[in-house]
Amino acid sequence: MPSYALVTGASSGLGLALAEALARRGRNLLLVARYRDELEPVALEFTQRFGVDVLFRACDLSEPLRLTGFLLELEESEQHIDLLVNCAALSSQGHFLAQDWLREQDLIELNVLALARLCHAVGNSMAVRGGGQILNVASVAAFQPGPWMSSYAASKAYVLHLSEGLREELRQSGVAVCVLCPGPLRTQGTLPRKLRGSRLPLTPEEVALCAVLALERNRALIIPGWRARWLARASRLAPRWLVRKAAAAVNRAYTRP
Ligand SMILES: NC(=O)c1ccc[n+]([C@@H]2O[C@H](COP(=O)([O-])OP(=O)(O)OC[C@H]3O[C@@H](n4cnc5c(N)ncnc54)[C@H](OP(=O)(O)O)[C@@H]3O)[C@@H](O)[C@H]2O)c1
Repeated sequence: MPSYALVTGASSGLGLALAEALARRGRNLLLVARYRDELEPVALEFTQRFGVDVLFRACDLSEPLRLTGFLLELEESEQHIDLLVNCAALSSQGHFLAQDWLREQDLIELNVLALARLCHAVGNSMAVRGGGQILNVASVAAFQPGPWMSSYAASKAYVLHLSEGLREELRQSGVAVCVLCPGPLRTQGTLPRKLRGSRLPLTPEEVALCAVLALERNRALIIPGWRARWLARASRLAPRWLVRKAAAAVNRAYTRP
């Protein structure tokens, strides 16, 4: 039976770059995002450029019923998922109380619940077959509270902790769990407004290459670039009150219109 790498959020930004880096290495792909129109040209292009089999499935992963439907299809399908890349996410910026609640709820559904559910369902199939790999995309925002993007940072802390926990739990079943924690990327997605156009952040392609190489070496925690590594380390060493205040000052400055 053919094996596939399932990549969520594969229609743009880092998910697209990760899918391309995997296709370049000869991996068959199953791409997931909400819109068929965005996925179809990507699947066509990767099939032609890299000679791999590329399937796609439009699914709003923040809708539990749609996710259930997708998981049932996956269970009944012929394709084995030997790599799950959980990259789809929503971000939030600004004062928590000023956010539209339904968007906050979507963020939690997508960044936390859908990711955990995919790990659970696909992780179980992998364990039954005796192996596989899961790459969850968190962020350097996972290492500290994130005032002015509190839900986003909290959701990424969940991803980081879940991934590190599962790595140890699933070790015996042959399922390897890795977590990717990039700093701000040069994309329009979760990049704070003030950093857009700046040459400082890494591109999604640079981060994807780093992630795919680290995945091949089965690295538990992947933090691309020295700036992100420094930030992650500083957040763990500095006193908690200082981390909170510094994060608030930086996030507030960057998220101000
Ligand atoms: N950008 C950064 O600076 C940065 C920094 C650190 C970590 N990250 C993380 O890297 C990942 C990618 O970020 P990005 O900036 O590249 O994001 P992006 O460009 O906004 O792309 C998000 C992807 O997720 C898909 N998506 C959104 N909502 C969805 C839903 N409900 N169901 C299914 N798919 C959905 C989008 O496709 P559709 O809209 O077509 O559904 C798109 O393919 C995220 O996990 C993010 O937290 C980003």
